[in-house]
Amino acid sequence: MIPLARAVLGPEEEAAIIEVLRSKRLSLGPRVPAFEREFAAHVGAPYASAVSSGTAALHLALRAVGVADGDEVVTSPFSFVASANAVLFERARPVFADIDPRTLNLDPEAAAAAITRRTRALLPVHIFGYPADVPAFEKLGLPIVEDACEALGAVHADGVNVGARGNPAAFGFYPNKQMTTGEGGMLTLGTTEMKERVDSERNQGRAPDMGWLDHDRLGFNYRLTDVAAALGLVQLGRLDGMLAARARVAGWYREALAGFEDLQLPCPDEGGDRRGWFVFVVQVPHGADRDETVRALALRGVQSKPYLPAIHLMSFYRERFGHREGQFPVCEDVAARSIALPFFPEMTEGQVAEVAEALESVLYAALK
Ligand SMILES: Cc1ncc(COP(=O)(O)O)c(C=O)c1O
Repeated sequence: MIPLARAVLGPEEEAAIIEVLRSKRLSLGPRVPAFEREFAAHVGAPYASAVSSGTAALHLALRAVGVADGDEVVTSPFSFVASANAVLFERARPVFADIDPRTLNLDPEAAAAAITRRTRALLPVHIFGYPADVPAFEKLGLPIVEDACEALGAVHADGVNVGARGNPAAFGFYPNKQMTTGEGGMLTLGTTEMKERVDSERNQGRAPDMGWLDHDRLGFNYRLTDVAAALGLVQLGRLDGMLAARARVAGWYREALAGFEDLQLPCPDEGGDRRGWFVFVVQVPHGADRDETVRALALRGVQSKPYLPAIHLMSFYRERFGHREGQFPVCEDVAARSIALPFFPEMTEGQVAEVAEALESVLYAALK
């Protein structure tokens, strides 16, 4: 079976983890600040705070821009559920707006139309690593939290890296991501005030100069361990190579699937925006059964999955907010036809050809 995703892990990662174990500093040790400094420098952000997941990063980012009970946050329904859930953690309401059919990111015009007097922030998601149009959102004059969990390595048209605009931007390090710490996340930040607040809130509300059991605000346990940070430091050293390898695999896919006209491939970079390759998601032609395609691919030894379902149509969101089909037609059409294909840095050109052949024959049979 050709797997969907696979992290690149070598002897350097093993050695780094063993070193932490031998140091006996498994948490609150020196590797977390070192990882933060190197990550911030890599992205070009003034500050970074390491946390236990991308979801934790989103939660603390929303708190940092002041999202609270009763507020609304305008966001994309075409995302991993965590981006909307994080809004609910603060008893605020995620207000969805439709997506751009080319980039699959939150459409700035639709987002502007969804703003009300209760809107406290905008939460664009850089989906599948393609930069969201943050400059357009910035013109709307509201605080912005960026979900960059899928977008490490992406660059905006103006040359600024995703995560370096000064808005809090959340990154995730689950093993399918561009780099991994097992579980983990990072929040890039533009000001010392935000960095201090986030560092305190990830550690139960304790300020750095306070005693061990003294806390001056509400906080959480969103700390990243030193074991994870050590892994992160090694992975960060490999990042440019892994991103280049992902881009190469994407290029092979593009060539191998070019002949299949009705199959929609990930949009190519346009206008200077640069994708940080995360997944290779195609949309099957109208008339093909996406779920059947996934099953038929599995029978041919190719792992794939429907990716992503529309958040507003998930049962929890339907029941809680009364969402129904037809509300966000672009998102719904894309969500019904999207499949993530196997995609990882060490994938070979032969494996890409195998996946492409399997997909084409499954789709030809389905559309016949
Ligand atoms: C768009 C998006 N947002 C948020 C997350 C949440 O990250 P994590 O799984 O690290 O909590 C993910 C990762 O799966 C994601 O893809």
